[in-house]
This record gives sequence, structure tokens and C-alpha cells, in this order.
Amino acid sequence: MTALFGYTDILRYSIKGNEEIHGYIDEIEKVASKASALTQQLLTFSRKQILEPVVIDLNDVVEEMSDMLQRIIGEKIEFKRDLNKDLPLIMADKSGIEQVIVNLAVNSRDAMPNGGVLRIETRQEYLDRIAVAAQPGIVPGEYVLLRVSDTGHGIPRDIRDRVFDPFFTTKADIGGTGLGLSTVFGIVKQTGGFLDVDSGESKGTTIDIYLPAVEGELEPLAIAQEKDLPLGSETILVVEDDPAVRKTVMTILKGAGYKAVEATDGADAIRKIALSNEPFDMIITDIVMPHIDGRELADKIKEANSDIKILYISGYDSVSKQPLSLISKREDFLQKPFTAAHLTRKVREILDK
Ligand SMILES: Nc1ncnc2c1ncn2[C@@H]1O[C@H](COP(=O)(O)OP(=O)(O)OP(=O)(O)O)[C@@H](O)[C@H]1O
Ligand SMILES: [Mg+2]
Repeated sequence: MTALFGYTDILRYSIKGNEEIHGYIDEIEKVASKASALTQQLLTFSRKQILEPVVIDLNDVVEEMSDMLQRIIGEKIEFKRDLNKDLPLIMADKSGIEQVIVNLAVNSRDAMPNGGVLRIETRQEYLDRIAVAAQPGIVPGEYVLLRVSDTGHGIPRDIRDRVFDPFFTTKADIGGTGLGLSTVFGIVKQTGGFLDVDSGESKGTTIDIYLPAVEGELEPLAIAQEKDLPLGSETILVVEDDPAVRKTVMTILKGAGYKAVEATDGADAIRKIALSNEPFDMIITDIVMPHIDGRELADKIKEANSDIKILYISGYDSVSKQPLSLISKREDFLQKPFTAAHLTRKVREILDK
């Protein structure tokens, strides 16, 4: 499917300006996404698809799918996202969650033939005993809410009890299989969650999916393997004062198999080195930091351990060149922002020198 969407994108670029053919390409994509959704659905439904739960960030899943979702719902429907930051992680099968979202988005699209709004929201919710009382097997605690809502025609009252039944469909004429919502139900249940539907003719449909929040870190290997990143097992100290950048670098490195230790500034880095039982193979340091800058830090560390590899990172652009003047051309440098692939390749290259 990725290849198919890739080729349709290439086609679209190579015949820029031809509206009619663009229309055909859109149709190919729609049919293809439907076909893949159906195949997936049948597989899940027949339990041939084994769900493999890993720790994931629901917001990342939604973000990654956004372009695809916009293509599926078309231009008449506005796609809004309201993803709450600091969302706890969940333990779920990623493609299962993608399938849940696609199925719901497709249902919403079908309910808004004249356009409307599809909204995907995420947030954290604490459910107490009263809130989960009606849900068999669900315990009180922190949950991640995935809310998919539309401004469509709503689910008529007389069929509301049946929409989750396998093969129940009001779309037999357009090829509906009636497996969409039963698949959603199955995946949510297997993920340890539950769902709630609120629908009405004048207010559209809102599906709330509650999935148990988990404590823990992003499943490292899942990230690495997915993108085919070069791996390693060396020990790396990450010195970066920006918490968001630091967290990202840490996640990528751990994802690629490295033992990564974080430090918030130069002084913290020196402390971490002194406290560590194991020598560090590499330091990744920001150049511009308060008190001790990356250059000074690297010099200090090298005095004690001349074998240690250093990779500088910095957000300054090529125009200002300012921090770059602190390091020589022979030294290794990576400009922010960088991707997981850039970072892991650079790290591997330096360690293998
Ligand atoms: N967002 C929605 N708005 C209005 N009706 C809906 C919505 N979602 C589901 N329905 C109703 O529930 C029925 C069952 O949905 P389900 O996704 O299981 O199957 P389907 O959409 O008919 O077929 P398929 O998903 O295989 O294409 C739909 O036929 C439709 O009548
Ligand atoms: Mg459906």
C-alpha cells in the first residue's frame, strides 16, 4: 500500500496540471485504500492477524496517518485534529489502532456526502469507579481517550443497537461489508479498552475509545526496526538543555539499541561521567548551552579520555554560522532538526571510524 500511494504521488507530480487525470488518480487511491482496509478487516475479523501490542504514542500514530486520512476523506470534508500534549503512552498493536482510525474516518466520510468536519481528538482521562461501572472487566485508572467525531447524518435510532454486529450495513449498495465497526470493537476490546457512541441526526456521530494508559518508554526496537536504522550497543552521553530535543535524541538512540544517558547541561554531563561505572564511547552535545558550551565541555572530557568520540549538534543555521565557528571542520557536526535516520547513521559512522 505504501508503494501504491507512493507511485500515485509520483504520477500526480509527473502530470501536474492535468485535472482530469488527477481525478482518476484520486479514484485509484480511494479504491486502493478501501481494498486494503477490507483485506485488513477480513484478516482481523478472521483472527488471522495477530495483534502485537507495543508501547506507542497515540498522537504519533494520528500524526503519521494524517496525510493519508485527508486523502481518504477528500477535500469536501475538513479534517481537524486536537491532540493533547503530554498524552500518556498506550500498549497497543500499531496497525490495529491505525485500522480503528481508518474505519471510523471512512464511516464519517460516508456519513458526510456533502462535506462537513471530521475531528480526531486525544486526551488523558482518569476514570473512577463510577465511570467504569457499566463496563465489564474495565478497572478504574488513567485512560487515553481517542475521540473521532463527525458532523454527518448520524446513526438512526432504530439501528443504533446493531451497528457493531458483524455484517450489519446500510451501505450494501456501495459495497459496505458491515465489518468496519465490529473490527473496531474487536481491536479495542483486545487492547483492554472500551468504546462509547453518541449519535444524533442533528449532532453527527462521536465515537469515544478509551484505552488504558501505561507507564513506560517508547518501545525502542519498534522505532528502529521500522525505519531500518543502523543499530549499535555502545554507551552514549547526550548533553542537551532543550528537554524536547533531549527526549527525542534519547528515544532514537535507545531505539537503535544504544545505552544512552542524558545530561541537561555541561555540569550535569561532568557529574554523570564521574558517577558512571562504564566509560562512555561517545558524547553527543549541543554547542550552545548556558555556563559551559559544548566546545569547552568536549575539551574537558577529552583531557580525561582522549578516545571518546564527540558529535556536536546545533540548531544554528548556516547563515549565522556562529556556533560553528567554535568547532573545526574536522569535527563531527549534525544540524538540527534532524531525523532518526540522520542521527543513527551519523552516530554509527563516527563510532566505526
Ligand atoms: N459515523 C457514522 N455516521 C452515521 N452512520 C454510521 C457511522 N458509522 C457507522 N454508521 C452506520 O453503521 C453501519 C455499520 O458500520 P460498519 O463500519 O460496521 O460497516 P459499513 O461502514 O456499512 O461497511 P464497511 O465498513 O465494511 O465499509 C453503517 O452501515 C452505517 O449505517
Ligand atoms: Mg464502515
